[in-house]
Amino acid sequence: MKECKIIAIANQKGGVGKTTTTFNLGVALAKQGKRVLLVDIDPQSNLTTYLGWYNQDELKLTLTDLMKQFINDSPIQTKEAILHHKENVDLLPSDLDLAALETTLSYAMSREYCIKNCLESIKRNYDYILLDCQPSLSMLTINALACANSVIIPVQSQYFATKGMTELLKIVNKIKRQINPELKIDGALLTLVDKRTNLAKEIEEQIRNNYGSVLKLFNTQIPIAIKTAESTSSGNSIFLYDKNNKVAEAYFSLSKEVLDSAKKYSKDAITQVR
Ligand SMILES: Nc1ncnc2c1ncn2[C@@H]1O[C@H](COP(=O)(O)OP(=O)(O)OP(=O)(O)O)[C@@H](O)[C@H]1O
Ligand SMILES: [Mg+2]
Repeated sequence: MKECKIIAIANQKGGVGKTTTTFNLGVALAKQGKRVLLVDIDPQSNLTTYLGWYNQDELKLTLTDLMKQFINDSPIQTKEAILHHKENVDLLPSDLDLAALETTLSYAMSREYCIKNCLESIKRNYDYILLDCQPSLSMLTINALACANSVIIPVQSQYFATKGMTELLKIVNKIKRQINPELKIDGALLTLVDKRTNLAKEIEEQIRNNYGSVLKLFNTQIPIAIKTAESTSSGNSIFLYDKNNKVAEAYFSLSKEVLDSAKKYSKDAITQVR
C-alpha cells in the first residue's frame, strides 16, 4: 500500500495564509483522487471554523481529547473524532482547550510525540495528512514537525515577511537532527501576492539571497483576492465558493507541484535503496 505523506503548514508569523493553504491545498489534492485528512493544530481553531464547524460545543471529540487520552495512556479515539467535509476532505478538529492542554504537555512523557501517536492508527486511510500549525514555535508546532515528512512555509508577500525565518529554519533543523531525521522542507510559498506591486519579487529575491541553499520557492504564488477571505467564512473552499477565481487556479497548481515533489521523493528513496 502507498505511504501516507504528512505535510506541516508552518510559519510562526500570524496571518500569512497557513489555514487557507491547508484547506484549499487539501481540497485540490482530493479533487485529484487523493484521500486527504486535515488536522487543526491551533487552539484558535480557524481551520475547524473555515470548514464550517462553527460551534465547538457540538464537536464530540477534538484533538485536545485525543492528546489527553495519549497523555493518560488511555485508548486514543482518533477515528471517532474525524469529521467528513462535503468537499471530500476529512478533518480532525480542535478547540480552544488545546491552549490549556499545551501547558500540561510540558510535563508529559514523550511530549514531542503526542500528535504522532494520535495519528498512527488512521494514517493508512490517507494519502496526505496536512497539519495546520498555530502561529508560534510552540510545543504543538514541535509536535507537528515531529510527525511530518515535510514542511510548507507560507510567506506573506509584505515587508519584513522573512523576519523570523532563521528561527523557523533553526527549529526545523534541530527537530530533523534530534527527533525526526526524515523531515524535509518542501519550500516557501508566497501568499497574498498583489501583482500591482513589486513586493513579491523583492521577497523572492530576499529568500533566494538569504536562504537559497536551504529553502526552495514553489513556482506557484497565491494571489490576493477578496473572494478568498469571503470563502473562509462560508464553510467552503475557494473551489466551491468561486471556482473560476485565480486563487482556485493557484491552489490547484500548487497541488500539482506537491504531487510532483512526492513522486520525486519516492524516486529518490528508490535510488538511495539501490
Ligand atoms: N489569497 C488570499 N487573498 C485574500 N485574503 C486571504 C488570502 N489568503 C488568506 N486570506 C485571508 O487572510 C487572513 C489570514 O489567513 P489565514 O487564516 O489562512 O492565515 P494564518 O496564517 O492561518 O493565520 P494564523 O497565523 O492566525 O493562524 C484570513 O482572513 C483569510 O481569509
Ligand atoms: Mg491559521
